[in-house]
Amino acid sequence: MIDYSEKIPNNVNLAQDRTLQRALEHWQPNYLQWWRDMGPDGSQDFEVYLRTAVSVDPSGWAHFDHVRMPDYRWGIFLVPQDATRRIHFGEHLGEPAWQEVPGEHRANLRRIIVTQGDTEPASVEQQRHLGLTCPSLYDLRNLFQVNVEEGRHLWAMVYLLHRHFGRDGREEAEALLARRSGDPDNPRILGAFNERTPDWLAFFMFTYFTDRDGKYQLCALAESAFDPLARSCRFMLTEEAHHMFVGESGVARILQRTCEKMNQLKTDDPAKLRAAGVIDLPTVQRYLNFHFSVTLDLFGADQSSNAALYYSSGLKGRYEEGKRGDDHRLKNDRYTVLGVREGQLATAEVPMLNALNEVLRDDYIKDSMSGVERWNKVIEKAGIGFRLAVPHKAFHRKIGTFAELCVAPNGEVVNRATWDANESRWLPSAEDRAFVASLMGRVVAPGQFANWIAPPARGINSQPVDFEYVRFN
Ligand SMILES: [Fe+2]
Ligand SMILES: [Fe+2]
Repeated sequence: MIDYSEKIPNNVNLAQDRTLQRALEHWQPNYLQWWRDMGPDGSQDFEVYLRTAVSVDPSGWAHFDHVRMPDYRWGIFLVPQDATRRIHFGEHLGEPAWQEVPGEHRANLRRIIVTQGDTEPASVEQQRHLGLTCPSLYDLRNLFQVNVEEGRHLWAMVYLLHRHFGRDGREEAEALLARRSGDPDNPRILGAFNERTPDWLAFFMFTYFTDRDGKYQLCALAESAFDPLARSCRFMLTEEAHHMFVGESGVARILQRTCEKMNQLKTDDPAKLRAAGVIDLPTVQRYLNFHFSVTLDLFGADQSSNAALYYSSGLKGRYEEGKRGDDHRLKNDRYTVLGVREGQLATAEVPMLNALNEVLRDDYIKDSMSGVERWNKVIEKAGIGFRLAVPHKAFHRKIGTFAELCVAPNGEVVNRATWDANESRWLPSAEDRAFVASLMGRVVAPGQFANWIAPPARGINSQPVDFEYVRFN
């Protein structure tokens, strides 16, 4: 059970561990200062209808109430320990899971935890201005829910650093509060987390595509031989599902509204639709192209000796490792990767261990496509012929072998001049972004929605759509 009598709610027996308690109580005021400086802009006094974990049981971990965000009970929750858990992949297969960090894996585990931890505050920073242009109270509440949970994910990683990595861990925990998304002098670690999230279409695409990267990384880490990491990530995944829901339903509601206008005005002319105050479908496609391609880069190089090492040593598994029917060592397995040969795309068979980033990326792509098909159902239902699609995996890549090529969304390799001539058809242009930005106004009357987005089918936690999800003070 989570002990709420503590300053830091937890189910890790914090009260019995004075060293850890001192470290976390020292870090907590710095975290709150970071939240005040870099958390949602101008919102510190709002009372937000938030979900807070009160129990890690599947039945009861969601408790809803109006709270001021700085008073949110950020805490440390791991799914309960299974004392019989054994390592189920890599060279240590069959040995008991580790409750402490083995010396030889200390540096790599720290790096994995810091890289994951860094994305959490980064996304809060990227999204901090969005509250000023929310399309409704319902959406504002969802934004804040995502933000406080990303804050809690940072807590989850900081707990591991403090509890298991001594002084180095404490230093890393401070550095997680010092880096800033997009800061040229002290940026966040991964590229996509230094991009801006300038408007709500970008926010919904980010929570659909980039939080889904989070899901796949967490799933891989939830398999880890290092049991406290596995248990932390399992619990984080319950929260991640809501973030992806916010993205998927947000884009679906935009599509629904645009299609209504298309039918009403009997046009697919982007200029006319823009004049009517909705986002034309080709612009939605360009945003999709951008967020999908930037997120694919987060999985890292397509062939990586680090990925092989992390797997073989048991630090990071595959997505749903336990459900796979192979030997879970993969020493003799091969995997087909798409690469580049003489300036063209070409497949190659490589050792699977080296291709594990690509394996995870391919699983991610499949999952991403299924949601895009659900978006297409919205368009289809409105009787409109347009279809969204994820671009080819070689499109607009900055990391890995594709970075050297110009590739169209359909997978055709093109020269630089063709790329330059078409870039504004494939990726959001400055004009697109300016148009979407021009739609962003603040709508905060309960039950009211901005013109460019349809209301949701239902509210949060069985509340009505016109519920007062956020109270301003
Ligand atoms: Fe997260
Ligand atoms: Fe998330």
